[in-house]
This record gives sequence, structure tokens and C-alpha cells, in this order.
Amino acid sequence: MKPVICLVALLGLVGLLVLGTELIAGDEPPKTPPIPNPTPETPPVPNPAPAGKFVPVTDVHHMMEGQGKLWGEIKDGILDSNWKAAENSAWLLAEVANVNQYQHEAADYKAWAKQMSDQCVELAGTLKKKDAAKSRDLVSKIGNTCSECHNKYK
Ligand code: HEC
Repeated sequence: MKPVICLVALLGLVGLLVLGTELIAGDEPPKTPPIPNPTPETPPVPNPAPAGKFVPVTDVHHMMEGQGKLWGEIKDGILDSNWKAAENSAWLLAEVANVNQYQHEAADYKAWAKQMSDQCVELAGTLKKKDAAKSRDLVSKIGNTCSECHNKYK
């Protein structure tokens, strides 16, 4: 073998070695920054701002026309033993009275509205059980609550 060819072969071998080390070194972690986890472990906190104050869409006058209508349906339902209809109207009246709390700032107004709502929920329960005596007793109590608020605010 001529010395020149020998030298070229040697250089080639050195070259291969260098390239090989480079390739092994290529196993190192990439220099690019890690991609942030797109799904964080804790879900984003929903807007912590409280829901706005409830504002009824009706005025008290129209709300009361509705209360009067439901009140009549309940009494008719008891008279006719139409329990399901009376129960449905009692639930609606309970919710209307619940909303009535937002119609006035005065504490006694809110308390009467709440009391009436609670009494109507109880009435819905006695109507579901078709308990005529207990239902009539509650109707008379609710009637007193209507009067108490009316005496001061109507
Ligand atoms: C927490 C207070 C409150 C309670 C409880 C209440 N009302 Fe009223 N009601 C009012 C006020 C205030 C008015 C006057 C509203 C207006 O006309 O501006 C009124 C008026 C009325 C009117 C007349 C409607 C009108 O304005 O011409 C009817 C009917 C009525 N209420 C039915 C009832 C019935 C039935 C109940 C009980 C089952 C009841 N209300 C309980 C506050 C109340």
C-alpha cells in the first residue's frame, strides 16, 4: 500500500470517529425550550364575581294580580278536590312570593314575603297528600300573611 493511500484511509477513519462522537452527542436533550403543558393540572377558576343582584321583571302591582289569580286557583282546587291543579298553583305562588322579597328593601316586607313563600311550600305538600283539613288551615294562615303585608304596604 502506498503511503498516500494509507494517509487518506487514516484520515477517513479519524473522520468517521469524529462523526460518530457527534452522532452520539446528538442524543443530548434538544436545546429548544420545553413546550408548556397546554392543560394545566388545576382548571382555570371561573369568574369569581358573584352573580348580579336578582331583579324582578314585573312590578308589584302585576305580581299581585298574579298572586290573586293563583290564590283563587288554590281555593277552587281545594273546593273541587282538584288536588293536582291546586298543588301546581301553590308551588307557583310559593315562587312568586319568593321573588316578592326582591320588590322592597324593608326587612318586614321581605319577612312577610318569605313567610308566605314558606307557607305555600308547606301547602303544596299537604295538597299532594290530599289533606283537606290541613290545607284549609294553611290557606287561612296564608290569608293572614297577605293581610299583614297589605295592612302596611298596600
Ligand atoms: C310582602 C308583602 C305582600 C304580601 C305577603 C302579599 N301582598 Fe298582595 N300586595 C302587596 C302590595 C305592596 C300591594 C299593592 C301593589 C300595587 O298595586 O302597587 C298588593 C296588592 C295586592 C292585590 C291588588 C292588586 C292591585 O294592585 O290591584 C292583590 C289581588 C293581592 N295583593 C293579592 C295578594 C294575595 C292573594 C296575597 C297572599 C296570598 C298577597 N297579596 C300577599 C304586597 C303583598
